Amino acid sequence: MLTLLENLQETVSYIKEQGVKEIDFALILGSGLGELADEIEEAIKIPYQTIPHFPVSTVVGHAGQLVYGTLAGKKVLAMQGRFHYYEGYAIDTVVYPVRVIATLKAHSIIVTNASGGVNTNFVPGDLMLITDQINNMGVNPLIGTNFDELGPRFPDMSQAFDQAYQEVTKCVAAKMNLALKEGVYMGGTGPTYETPAEIRFARTVGADAVGMSTVPEVIVAVHSGLRVLGISCITNLAAGMQKTLNHEEVIETTERVKSEFKTLLKETLRML
Ligand code: HPA
Repeated sequence: MLTLLENLQETVSYIKEQGVKEIDFALILGSGLGELADEIEEAIKIPYQTIPHFPVSTVVGHAGQLVYGTLAGKKVLAMQGRFHYYEGYAIDTVVYPVRVIATLKAHSIIVTNASGGVNTNFVPGDLMLITDQINNMGVNPLIGTNFDELGPRFPDMSQAFDQAYQEVTKCVAAKMNLALKEGVYMGGTGPTYETPAEIRFARTVGADAVGMSTVPEVIVAVHSGLRVLGISCITNLAAGMQKTLNHEEVIETTERVKSEFKTLLKETLRML
């Protein structure tokens, strides 16, 4: 059996053979934001199913390809579609693309997602700059053998989200007249939405938003030495704060705010 390092070399060789050269920023495009990848100029598209050792995404509405090219003057590699733990992937499969991104020598990663608002000052449609995260998945993608070539055994998570990138994003939001919220993202496994009691718990422990992704990817990004920027779209109020929750509302809200979200991302990318 090949080791992780050997798999990564094979994956990266294939991606480079497709014409991917230097990368500044990798982008993980969450629910509703996938079409940002359609704006990448001189795009090279690599379907996940063609990439050695790459998982294939199962979620409807996630196209499942890497898109490389230029966006807002930066060389980007976008993941159009991500892998969720609730889909049944092993946690190291969920984060494999982030390992690939780091092995391709991107220096930074921008992660986006949809989440439920826990902070009572949030309304659906708000965009939230992620300042920190809480791992409530009960699993950590770094458990197991540590490859020192990839990162340290005990990574420091004190500054998981890059402070300078946050400042730039806030400036861009202010210029756009956008009331960008800020807060802590707590990731659970899903696929159930939380119970109202779990949301009271989340608020008590300091979460401002809850979702089902991002946390493992950010852990591996930090382990790999990538600078991280995270932005979340608050698609609904969390359980107990509105009558019922459903996936349709999540989709509707991402559709409603996606042009604003895309502008915020592109203009931030331009300034970074
Ligand atoms: N909970 C968890 N994940 C989510 C939510 C939520 O309320 N909204 C969008 N993704």
